Amino acid sequence: MKRGNTTVIIGAQWGDEGKGKIVDVLSHNFSIVARYAGGHNAGHTVIIQGKKFVLQLVPCGVLRSGCRSVIGNGVVLDPLALLKEVKMLRDAGVHVDGNLFVSNRAHVILPYHRMIEMGAENAPGRVKIGTTSRGIGPAYEDKMGRRGLRVADLLDSSLLKSTVENACREKNMIAHALFNSEPLDADSMYAEYARAAEEIAPFVTDTALLLNQALAEGESVMFEGAQATMLDIDHGTYPFVTSSSCTAGGAVTGTGVPPNAIQTVIGVTKAYCTRVGGGPFPSEVEGTIADQLRARGNEYGAVTGRSRRCGWIDLPLLRYSQMINGVNWWVVTKLDVLDVLDEVPVCVGYRINGKKYDSIPALAIGFDRVECVYEKMPGWKTSTEGVTSFEQLPKKAQEYLRFIERESGAKVGMVSTGPDRDQTVLLPEFAAGFRAVTENAAPQKGARTK
Ligand code: IMP
Repeated sequence: MKRGNTTVIIGAQWGDEGKGKIVDVLSHNFSIVARYAGGHNAGHTVIIQGKKFVLQLVPCGVLRSGCRSVIGNGVVLDPLALLKEVKMLRDAGVHVDGNLFVSNRAHVILPYHRMIEMGAENAPGRVKIGTTSRGIGPAYEDKMGRRGLRVADLLDSSLLKSTVENACREKNMIAHALFNSEPLDADSMYAEYARAAEEIAPFVTDTALLLNQALAEGESVMFEGAQATMLDIDHGTYPFVTSSSCTAGGAVTGTGVPPNAIQTVIGVTKAYCTRVGGGPFPSEVEGTIADQLRARGNEYGAVTGRSRRCGWIDLPLLRYSQMINGVNWWVVTKLDVLDVLDEVPVCVGYRINGKKYDSIPALAIGFDRVECVYEKMPGWKTSTEGVTSFEQLPKKAQEYLRFIERESGAKVGMVSTGPDRDQTVLLPEFAAGFRAVTENAAPQKGARTK
């Protein structure tokens, strides 16, 4: 039987590119949307007919009827955060029950992960990463250190009890010795997480099995990336990264779907660039122009509310992203934010100590010495807000997009011209690819048919 289509959606920059909206727009072509990395440090904002949803853990596919959502084994799961989000969705009338599946192999974030992270972030002499304070890094450390608690273990009350007791003893000692933190109480932690486990149990399953069976039956699966390429633990601006594999490769290890099952990779990039937290950002700008981008793009974190650093689109970075992820198509978001500019600078290369480079340095210190080489594109000075076809975009905006695709190794398939589902340009070749997928795909389970 023909295997179903698989598409991975990744962030090409430092996150917050607007992946949530893109997953939402494309999800009607897929019967399953699966998250494969990160945790509730992600903040995916989706606006449907003016109603705003901020999802942190549950894949954005949950907002489409007939689309199932999977939280894969590569995610680190805070059970309390999950239950809060499930409640928010149920209250909004979204069908979560029977539609959401959580991997029994995903690792669990517990309060001592947050305690260790807060201590480490504020400790003198440590590099401050500017994390989201969700315990993400320490949870992945425990996973790699082979002392983590998986969702399957959370559901086993005696294993939960012994793990919480042992971990609290150890982490309390470490956190007190290193950071002078107040100790956490193992008994109340066990009671709270045992209750949460009961509520989570109906969602838990072997999601690798579910996904592979669905593909074998011809269903199509979209893998929803969280964070982004430059925050990837291996390929990002280390150590100013998150602790997971956000790049396309993570979709394989983070869900149990084999590498040869991945067909298409879509990279999402803003028409400019932003970053939250510390770390290198060669094309960053400051002052009035940064304030203008921040205000027009509403560049404040969906999870932490922190204001985002702003700058220009960076082509060496996009070329690197294209290479690492094998991006087939770009989706360019927030084009309308640039509408008022007289000219739009584009970083076309790097200069380090007077020498030109096309690629990204590995060392953060190398990044500090990067000077961007800019090419200035003329601004279009016309509103693109809500435009839905490429031809309707001002000529200069079309040239800007064509320049990006020529210089970055992949075609632009879609452009976002506003936050709503409908404020989207789909280029015909890209749209035709998805139509073909939909026409060939097996009927979606639970989808209404006429
Ligand atoms: P952590 O993921 O909380 O450990 O944070 C590590 C770095 O990744 C920090 O610079 C965060 O600001 C950044 N980060 C984590 N999640 C996101 C996201 O969803 N969007 C943008 N940046 C993020």
